[in-house]
Amino acid sequence: MADQQYSTASNAPLQNLEEWEDFVKQRYPELPANTGPFQTTNPHKQREEFRNYEATARPTVREFYRLNHRHQTFAFVQAKKREFLSLDRRKMGIWEAMEFLNTLVDDSDPDTDLSQLEHLVQTAEQIRKDGHPRWFVLTGLVHDLGKILCLFGQPQWAVVGDTFPVGCAWSDRIVFHEFFAQNPDALEARYQTRLGIYSEGCGLDNVHLSWGHDEYLYHVVKDYLPDEALHMIRYHSFYPAHREGEYTYLMNDRDKAMFEWVRAFNPYDLYTKSHQRPKVPELQPFYQELIAQYFPAQLRW
Ligand SMILES: [Fe+2]
Ligand SMILES: [Fe+2]
Repeated sequence: MADQQYSTASNAPLQNLEEWEDFVKQRYPELPANTGPFQTTNPHKQREEFRNYEATARPTVREFYRLNHRHQTFAFVQAKKREFLSLDRRKMGIWEAMEFLNTLVDDSDPDTDLSQLEHLVQTAEQIRKDGHPRWFVLTGLVHDLGKILCLFGQPQWAVVGDTFPVGCAWSDRIVFHEFFAQNPDALEARYQTRLGIYSEGCGLDNVHLSWGHDEYLYHVVKDYLPDEALHMIRYHSFYPAHREGEYTYLMNDRDKAMFEWVRAFNPYDLYTKSHQRPKVPELQPFYQELIAQYFPAQLRW
């Protein structure tokens, strides 16, 4: 599927990538502090409630999901993996990649919105304040670097968005489920059963998720971080699983155990966004040292 077929406007319905994240946060509001740091919202949230979020979503967000659900087919995901997972576009260190991501120009308000780099540092700082291990702090620092896909010309709907398995039936707990009617895979009978092309408990490593910044970054960093960190990175946008409890039948026991870490990470991603800017120059030496502990000077992107 060639990218040229999408016009510039249809590539970027969102004013900025945060518009998607703000919508996710609206759907999963933060619970009071006394429910514990790793508590997630009620996994049995009524379908009705979901529909309300859909009904009140901004038109830009709605259009973003329409494009995402329309174009993220099994074939599209395979094509993007072939296109990007050879990792032969650039060689960059982690901090360099953070600065590169920061060159992403969108319609954010520079006076009130944090930059991409500030979001990463802020997430890491909150994890550090809560006393988590160094690899967990580092995971917060790098988790969104896959968004450099935007700088490689990829449309928003192929970089961010709640991810979901392709090649099997779409859970009805995926937000804006109705837009899947326009996805060509809806006509492929082999993709429309509960298991589709997969087998019961086959493990998420064998499952193709919709393409975006999670999967891309996982491949960039997979040789350097512990498994817990890799699960957090690879599945942090897999809301249908980590927030809705769907697709457990594709998971193996290791995935189920690792998803506790994915759930532990999610509040830091969603709720640490404050407008208080982290003092990046002061913090940089600490993070440079942390990066050097785990990563080589240059990675392939
Ligand atoms: Fe992300
Ligand atoms: Fe994030």
